[in-house]
Amino acid sequence: MVKIGPSILAANFANLKEEIIAVDKAGADYIHIDIMDGHYVPNITFGPNIIKTLRPISKKTFDVHLMISPVINFIDSFSSVGADIISFHPEADSDPFKVIKLIRNLNCKPGIAIHPDINITKFEKYLSIVDVVVVMTVVPGFGGQKFLNDQVSKILFLKEYKNKHNLSFEIEIDGGINKETGNICKKNGADLLVAGSYIYGSHPKNYKNLIENLR
Ligand code: DX5
Ligand code: ZN
Repeated sequence: MVKIGPSILAANFANLKEEIIAVDKAGADYIHIDIMDGHYVPNITFGPNIIKTLRPISKKTFDVHLMISPVINFIDSFSSVGADIISFHPEADSDPFKVIKLIRNLNCKPGIAIHPDINITKFEKYLSIVDVVVVMTVVPGFGGQKFLNDQVSKILFLKEYKNKHNLSFEIEIDGGINKETGNICKKNGADLLVAGSYIYGSHPKNYKNLIENLR
């Protein structure tokens, strides 16, 4: 069954604690945490200090998506506050191999995220050494954008690559996920769907139903 990771980017920040408890209870598998630096992407979100205060609230997997450049300087801070998965964009650092190794040495699961403009074959060299591959189906930087259909072929490519090379990385899809686009991703081999506005922005706020709708 596909895993669901609500993105707290779309949560009510004044109630972040309650918002995390609510999706945890509603059956979320991961808590997706978007880190933006105003440099790699034109927006700013949280730093490690926020994650530190959130860590005691939930035992669910903290899936930290770094949209920052450079990356290497911040891995230690994010691992030490309790990130479980740390994903980053390889083009945002001069030595992605070093970043992946460091994440693993600090006992976190390394992931790479693929910007919609980047051809997946460029990152093939990392696929055997990561635990997660994030297919971005929006341009990173903002929640609430429209799903980019032309990225779906990357999901299928990854699924076939995984089978062919006997690899076990999870295929995570991030951006514009709702019931309809989620179904497309599942059919093509997604293991995990990230959803921000679909879960936190819906009315009525029945998180359990919304998460079940995506599965
Ligand atoms: C975009 C972020 C996403 C975002 C998804 O840069 O990486 O995780 O929160 O939000 P929705 O689901 O609203 O597209
Ligand atoms: Zn994200």
